[in-house]
Amino acid sequence: MSHSPHRSHWNNRWTFMLATAGSAIGLGNIWKLPYMIGVNGGSAFVLVFVACIFLVGIPLMMTEILLGRRAQKNPLDGMQALAIEAKRSTAWKYLGGMGMLTGLLILSFYSVIGGWVLAYIIEAARGSFSQITAAQSTANFDTLLASPLQLLAWHTVFMFMTMSVVAHGVNSGLEKANNILIPSLFAILLILLGYSMSVGDMHAAFQFMFKPDFSKITPVAVLSALGHAFFSLSLGMGAVMVYGSYLQRNVSIARTTIYIALADTLLGLLVGLAIYSLVFANHLAPNAGPGLIFQTLPIAFGHMPAGGFIGMLFFILVAFAAWTSSISLVEPAIAWIVENTKIKRHTAAWAIGLAVWLLGIAVVLSFNEWKAIKIIFGLNIFETLDKLTSTILLPLGGLLMAIFAGYFMNKNHVQEELDLNDQHFKFWHFTNNYIAPIAIGAVFLYLFGLIK
Ligand code: PFF
Repeated sequence: MSHSPHRSHWNNRWTFMLATAGSAIGLGNIWKLPYMIGVNGGSAFVLVFVACIFLVGIPLMMTEILLGRRAQKNPLDGMQALAIEAKRSTAWKYLGGMGMLTGLLILSFYSVIGGWVLAYIIEAARGSFSQITAAQSTANFDTLLASPLQLLAWHTVFMFMTMSVVAHGVNSGLEKANNILIPSLFAILLILLGYSMSVGDMHAAFQFMFKPDFSKITPVAVLSALGHAFFSLSLGMGAVMVYGSYLQRNVSIARTTIYIALADTLLGLLVGLAIYSLVFANHLAPNAGPGLIFQTLPIAFGHMPAGGFIGMLFFILVAFAAWTSSISLVEPAIAWIVENTKIKRHTAAWAIGLAVWLLGIAVVLSFNEWKAIKIIFGLNIFETLDKLTSTILLPLGGLLMAIFAGYFMNKNHVQEELDLNDQHFKFWHFTNNYIAPIAIGAVFLYLFGLIK
């Protein structure tokens, strides 16, 4: 398939990498990975997570980019075009459609958590962390959660930030934003890391995260680690596919993927180290759960010199990371609307934004007024959306993409896109066709109680 003349493309490989790394690096690395490591027993979870990134994440990211670049379309029309090219059923387009919806479901809660981060930038700037005790910090966080109006206001600001970039489109909006945001993010992280190395307990953090303890590898830890590998690399819903569709022909998919996956994993682990070295130096609990960074970090920031400033920088870093990810959560759906209807990108962005914002209100309420409302398996609205997307929809999307590329597409077409030497192609083929489907399949069988 050839590049259509009116479709915009990234200026160069660097920009594509920045954008895709921007999608991958987000709340998943900074808010979710650290608390999941703590909840799932530390090093055991880290080990399985890293294995999932290498054995499933990297090959499937290559798969998703190759599908996008070959299709040159949004995920739904793209899957349809690829199916037609491979003389297969056009029902494959529903895989693209499922991904678009998954992105919007994720965005509904992603934006609410992004809102917490914005609230904490202000808290840090106001000096609220100064000399704070553990009890006060928890109480502060609980007060924020208990206020639907505050949460709603911040959720609204976050959605507004996201949609104003998306409304401007791939070349003028996403690209410009990413060119500034990602390098700044790395710069702020280095400052934070240097700081926690000097005042924190890096040794304890290292032991906790990397000293292998195989006894702690439980089925639940494996399940969460696999789901989180998808979430963290933005795989399984077409975000990477749609970014890949803006990628030029002459760029190596394998090399780009490896850089992005390494950057994403490394950054997540570095944030983890920075956080846990502060946690241990201040005798805080590593397994505090989803509130970890919001409840424990202010205590650490509150007791270090210039902690208010460092804390503010930290939450700005998190907000930047969340922003570049949220943009990619909505891009597949916007690309579909713009390429299929006469609706302008602007209008599409604000309309979709409004719909997701409304769903986000239910998420906001699930932290307070509707806390007791359980949807399924004792999970409230937020938890249901989180688990449904991370442990079911993303891995399912990834599984189907792997099967399509591995078993339904013409092998020459796949090779044409990947452009690998024989040995590397065989490696990709083996992981895509066997390792990834078996790993995801086993997790699903466990999830539905079919294996113990
Ligand atoms: N990868 C993002 C993070 O780690 O925060 C979240 C995400 C973005 C997931 C885009 C899925 C996606 F398509």
